Amino acid sequence: MTVPGDGRRPLVSFVGAGPGDPELITVRGLRRLREADLIVHDRLVPTALLAEASADAELIDVGKAPGRHCLAQDQINRLLVERACAGRFVVRLKGGDPAIFGRLAEEVRAARAARIPVEIVPGVTAGTAGAARAGISLTERGGASLIVFATATDRAGGLASGFDWGLLARAQATLVFYMAVRRLATVTATLISLGRDPGAPALVAENVGRPHERLIAGPLARIAADARAAQAASPAIMICGPTVASALAGLERSRFAEMVR
Ligand SMILES: C[S@@+](CC[C@H](N)C(=O)[O-])C[C@H]1O[C@@H](n2cnc3c(N)ncnc32)[C@H](O)[C@@H]1O
Repeated sequence: MTVPGDGRRPLVSFVGAGPGDPELITVRGLRRLREADLIVHDRLVPTALLAEASADAELIDVGKAPGRHCLAQDQINRLLVERACAGRFVVRLKGGDPAIFGRLAEEVRAARAARIPVEIVPGVTAGTAGAARAGISLTERGGASLIVFATATDRAGGLASGFDWGLLARAQATLVFYMAVRRLATVTATLISLGRDPGAPALVAENVGRPHERLIAGPLARIAADARAAQAASPAIMICGPTVASALAGLERSRFAEMVR
């Protein structure tokens, strides 16, 4: 297969769109969007960013809602490869950081197999954006020297089983769970049963950087019930760890009166 391009300029650029606030894209990411002939984007990317595309750029929504795939992964891979091989500059725009729970590896592998030059433009991931909104430092000298970004669920929607939950429960670490809403009760019960302090503060950050953003805080033992009572829904992350306590203690009651109980 022949591939147009001078060997230096990428033909597929995997760009992180950030969590939802259109200001949270990198300068390079925004430049790539404006240069693109084709933007292949996910459901969660901000529409304001798509408005940055040039007038003759083509936009394709391959959006995946939880449990629903608009375009199968191999169809997305094929689309990227075919269009890049036809000489189009393709931007693959993904929510947050493309390298975090974004199926980036599969798409990069497909492009590289077709000898298509690729680049990855990182983005602000939901975990760091959510922490920032709540004033949480994910690390703290002497308090939290480890951060874990974990998916709470596996492909079938069950509790993730690819790692040692006991290790997570016992670690003096900040745990950030993605895709956690539907399994929040199981996640928190599992952590507590394996040794995590049930009274430790936890935070659910829903729709970070988007119009219906909400932060729900409470002790780990109650956060799932609180989130359910508030009808928290995807997209949301759950953060728990030693630094969550200090951040929530410092919050003004007025700002969080509705949210912190
Ligand atoms: C398929 S993963 C993609 C993660 C993305 N690549 C990132 O770096 O943020 C989707 C999950 O990310 C989290 N997420 C994405 N955007 C979010 C947002 N604006 N607010 C809260 N959580 C978000 C949710 O846990 C959601 O279920």
